[in-house]
Amino acid sequence: MDILIVGSGGREYSIGLALSKDENVNNLYFAPGNGATDTLGTNISYNSYEELANFVEKNSIDLTIVGPEAPLVDGIVDIFQSKNLTIFGPSQKAAQLEGSKIFMKNFLARHNIPTARYIETDNLNEAEDFIDTLTPPIVVKADGLCGGKGVIIAPSHQEAKDAAKDMLTGSSFGEAGLRIVVEEFLDGYELSVFAVCDGKDYIVLPAAQDHKRLLDGDKGPNTGGMGAYAPTPLVNDEIYKKLDERVIKPTLKGMEEEGMPFSGVLFMGVMVVDGEPYILEYNVRFGDPECEELMPLLKTPASELFYNAATGKLAQTDVEFYDKYAVGVVMASKNYPYSSSEPAEIIIDEINHPNLKENSHISFAGVSRGEDGKLYATGGRVLVCVGMGESIKEARDRAYMLVGQVHFAGKQCRTDIAYQALRD
Ligand code: AMP
Ligand code: GLY
Repeated sequence: MDILIVGSGGREYSIGLALSKDENVNNLYFAPGNGATDTLGTNISYNSYEELANFVEKNSIDLTIVGPEAPLVDGIVDIFQSKNLTIFGPSQKAAQLEGSKIFMKNFLARHNIPTARYIETDNLNEAEDFIDTLTPPIVVKADGLCGGKGVIIAPSHQEAKDAAKDMLTGSSFGEAGLRIVVEEFLDGYELSVFAVCDGKDYIVLPAAQDHKRLLDGDKGPNTGGMGAYAPTPLVNDEIYKKLDERVIKPTLKGMEEEGMPFSGVLFMGVMVVDGEPYILEYNVRFGDPECEELMPLLKTPASELFYNAATGKLAQTDVEFYDKYAVGVVMASKNYPYSSSEPAEIIIDEINHPNLKENSHISFAGVSRGEDGKLYATGGRVLVCVGMGESIKEARDRAYMLVGQVHFAGKQCRTDIAYQALRD
């Protein structure tokens, strides 16, 4: 099977890494890929999704897997499907679950799926009146895609009102903020739960925990995610059952009833409050860096999972995971998440310890290959060091041993990934 992966991050690298070890896979392509995906396959540049679809058609590529949300929200799946090409991901209509927070919140309300109390509005007075009814902190969200930055957790009524005003006047997020959601703050622990869906059936992957803040102890600014681990022991059978019955089933049924059956990855951002799961948000793709830990836990050939999901055959797919843990530590560039950084050469020490060699690896993200053939850190999140183990501690220790082997000027990482699973 020949496969194209759309995207350029660590998530796409990790999917490619899993597929590169898969006997069913011949040629792998990345569009556009990054400076390291060229070691797993061929990087392709493109100017439009139509052009990419033509490339897929011409080269008889059997399956396209879409990593990031932007092409999904732009309708890449619809374009490919109109040419009878097999593609893994939701339609443009279904991708609204991520593309519009207002669509998502109203969908949750229509289908009685537990979520924070909210209003949606484009009117500042209405926003201010609702803010006055809430106890701080208060959550203000821009409706549209803002590259993960459109959520403000305001510590006071005044700051919530200021955030609402900045969004509604277009000064903070442009068009994406002209309509907003204001909601109550949920105080609990956060999970990333993924269901691979084929429009009818679904498979729930081991639950993960991300670490969104830049600094140890969940301090500092929000980022795309500084590290993750899976499976998390913070989910027990009861929570999985509640998620299944109260969230996943009604979501997929609701999407089907509303004429947009969901296929692709349904990413549930969940807050567990007193043992009860609430939906914070949906995304319509794998999390990054969660994907980097989930892919190496997948025992079933990745091509089988994605191809069968894309062709409506999940019911006949037996998906298995290794009985192991994975911990991923993101190494980011100097000025992340504030601004870009000078390119810095990446030097990786030779790993001699057999134990580490076999149980750890790097997923490359914001990297470019220089004309000298060397790898340079050029993006915000540069790479993820992933450790595998029989326990979370073992996996975490290996991930950090690998971090110690990787060098580039200005590198930064958290030192406490997986702390919630490891505290006494
Ligand atoms: P979102 O993009 O909606 O997931 O929001 C980004 C982050 O803001 C989430 O991962 C949470 O950490 C936090 N957040 C969003 N909504 C709430 C809420 N209602 N209560 C508490 N934290 C929230
Ligand atoms: N790691 C969170 C996200 O991908 O949105």
